[in-house]
Amino acid sequence: MEQQQGVSQDFQDIGSVLSGGHAEGSVVRLRGWVHRWRSSGKVVFMTIRDPSGVIQVVARATDPFWKAAESVTRESSVILEGKVRKDERAPGGYELALTAFKVHGLADPAFPIAKDLSIRHLLNVRHLWLRSRKMNAVLKVRHSVFGAIHEYFRKNGFYESTGPMFVTAACEGGSTLFKLNYFGKTAYLSQSAQFYNEALIFTLGKQYLIAPSFRAEKSKTPRHLTEFWHAECEVAWCDFEGIMKVEEDLITHIVRKVLEERKEELKTLKRDTAPLENVVAPFPRIPYERAIDLINERNAKMALTYESDLGADEEFVLASQFDKPFLVTGYPVKLKAFYHKPDPARPTHTLAGDLLAPEGYGEIIGGGQRIEDTAQLQEQMKLFDLNPKDYEWYTDLRRYGTVPHSGFGLGVDRVVRWICKLKHIRDTMPFPRTMTRVYP
Ligand code: 4AD
Ligand code: MG
Repeated sequence: MEQQQGVSQDFQDIGSVLSGGHAEGSVVRLRGWVHRWRSSGKVVFMTIRDPSGVIQVVARATDPFWKAAESVTRESSVILEGKVRKDERAPGGYELALTAFKVHGLADPAFPIAKDLSIRHLLNVRHLWLRSRKMNAVLKVRHSVFGAIHEYFRKNGFYESTGPMFVTAACEGGSTLFKLNYFGKTAYLSQSAQFYNEALIFTLGKQYLIAPSFRAEKSKTPRHLTEFWHAECEVAWCDFEGIMKVEEDLITHIVRKVLEERKEELKTLKRDTAPLENVVAPFPRIPYERAIDLINERNAKMALTYESDLGADEEFVLASQFDKPFLVTGYPVKLKAFYHKPDPARPTHTLAGDLLAPEGYGEIIGGGQRIEDTAQLQEQMKLFDLNPKDYEWYTDLRRYGTVPHSGFGLGVDRVVRWICKLKHIRDTMPFPRTMTRVYP
């Protein structure tokens, strides 16, 4: 039983055993890591994990490889052969009676994840905690979410493009900009690719991308990262109503895809899937004022007015009242970024909306229709105390062949958090970045 070079066809994966793909009594060959280990002195019970699952294996004192099985440490990498046995008591319902067992990389016995399971410690050893069943499940859901986003946009005539990470102006306000020295000039890390996406619709029509966005978020909330993954799209000849439909269809597609592909992982995460089954467009549309009323009715202490912004706490109160995603529409101009188009029927309010996830999760998408008129855009910049010089190329897009257009940004990590029903957004990321965390 030599270790194979390259990608070998001679090994099975644990998932195929657990799903009943091998008859009882047949022999399978696996490669993986020792997940748990205990010995009675005469029998060793181990669980072995590979990317596809965890299975119990048994070695006996009479086995020729007994010594190796007796002395192996947790997280050692191993290569083994075993006879498939159905066993109701084994986790996953199957067990392997080992017929061969070889240790490839014996792990240092001081594996640092044992007693201390505090959040802080697990973040310090994130590079090792990624091996946990929880992280394995979340990362696979995350994989399906990324895949579903690409699939949705590509099937619906959007072109994928890319935007720069070094930029010269704020998209979402100055307070969360990461500033850097760019060869003596001031530059920032991108908060959103939106302005660049807007430029691209004049050549591609319908455009999307998935990229990191950066926000110097000084707040410690369970839904803010300093580096998050942003799925954004922009569409020419599209109004507010049109873009809300895209948002609803995209969310419906993502959730359906995860339900199809990630049943096991959602089970591992103990996620009740009933609320996810409920995610079918169209979603309720809640005018901003109605949202304020709903929050005040539930929690009078918040005492919101029709000028109040909705933060995490307010959105929690609101989003706890819904059992499927919903849109809050028509925010006041001053609560949103400068580029949002004021509603011609009520110019103090925007043609902008957020899409909120139910079960208390809150905003996962921000978007709307953009100002398309040069003079109106310049006026709006004045209103927001912005220097039009910083936005010259952006204004050019209106000067040369302007069109009605709309777009949005979806926080991929926030979507994963909601779908997995996680307490904190950092658990959606392999290596999360927050105000207090840039290591490992
Ligand atoms: O609402 P936001 O700030 O909108 C924009 O950036 C627009 N320029 C997007 C566009 O229209 N192209 O951000 C969009 C989404 C939010 O709804 C949220 O899901 C996510 O990005 N988001 C964050 N996710 C994690 N951590 C943060 N600090 C986030 N800030 C925004
Ligand atoms: Mg927003």
